[in-house]
Amino acid sequence: MRVFVDCDPGIDDALALAYLAADSSVEIVGVGTVYGNSSVETTTDNAVRLLRLFDRPDVPVAAGAARPLVQQPRLAAHVHGTNGLGGIELPAVEAATVSESAAEVLVRLARSAPGEISVLALGPLTNLALALALEPRLPQLVDRVVVMGGAVRAPGNVTPWAEANVNNDPEAAEAVLGAGFNLTLVALDVTMRALATEPWLEELAGLASERASYAHRFLTYYLDWYTEFLGRRACPMHDPLAAAVLLDPALVTESVTVPVQVELTGTYTRGMTVADLRTRPEAGSRDPVVLPTEVDVPEFLSRMLRALA
Ligand code: BDR
Ligand code: CA
Repeated sequence: MRVFVDCDPGIDDALALAYLAADSSVEIVGVGTVYGNSSVETTTDNAVRLLRLFDRPDVPVAAGAARPLVQQPRLAAHVHGTNGLGGIELPAVEAATVSESAAEVLVRLARSAPGEISVLALGPLTNLALALALEPRLPQLVDRVVVMGGAVRAPGNVTPWAEANVNNDPEAAEAVLGAGFNLTLVALDVTMRALATEPWLEELAGLASERASYAHRFLTYYLDWYTEFLGRRACPMHDPLAAAVLLDPALVTESVTVPVQVELTGTYTRGMTVADLRTRPEAGSRDPVVLPTEVDVPEFLSRMLRALA
């Protein structure tokens, strides 16, 4: 599978990259970066370092948007640390990024191999919206798009209704969800149930690889923050679950296929993902997306350990 990853690493983004990199059948054709968990400068530097750590040093990294289309960015240093990786320093590498933006690289790759490239979007959707503006036929040029974002029947995480990636750029998310991509939305509905717990982290600590040791250090930081948020010692594996669903849709054991819109104007609900869950959605409403509602969490977590081993 040929995959373009758009991300804001980010502790869970880092683990998603590790998951993809561990699969020799995956060609990561490019990585785009975006503000989100940290500034785009930091997420770009992290992406370059992580790809080196995960033995994919040749993957081109393209810096993307530094801010959302309309509003100001809301970075998440309180969740991911000021360096985006829980304060854990990765070995320094020469920052080698391509001169095109993330959106330009995605458009170029999609045009050069129509129907062959899948997109995994793990941060605010600004780069994808910019790519759509450059190439409105993008939905017909790419294969599948898997987005980690949104909260349909689950509560939000940054507001009572909104999930961080969508909330950071609601206009971009609305453009992407309405564009007609073959899109799977891996929302908090399932990611908040894909929890790494302490016994799982102990298994991770027992693995001998360098990547497992870094993953354990990142997650120890992340777990402390999530313990406050969840009220129990566990942390959700948002972005790695999206990566796993991209590589194997069979991990999704139940889903609905529904039109999803993003609330842009609500006083309390801006950034909310609103799905038409009726049996017969409004005729002529937008193209539906696949919304997983159940995933095989034990299988995912054991695959994650294997990837990090
Ligand atoms: C999403 O927001 C980011 O903080 C995480 O990396 C993940 O992509 C979860 O809401
Ligand atoms: Ca992310």
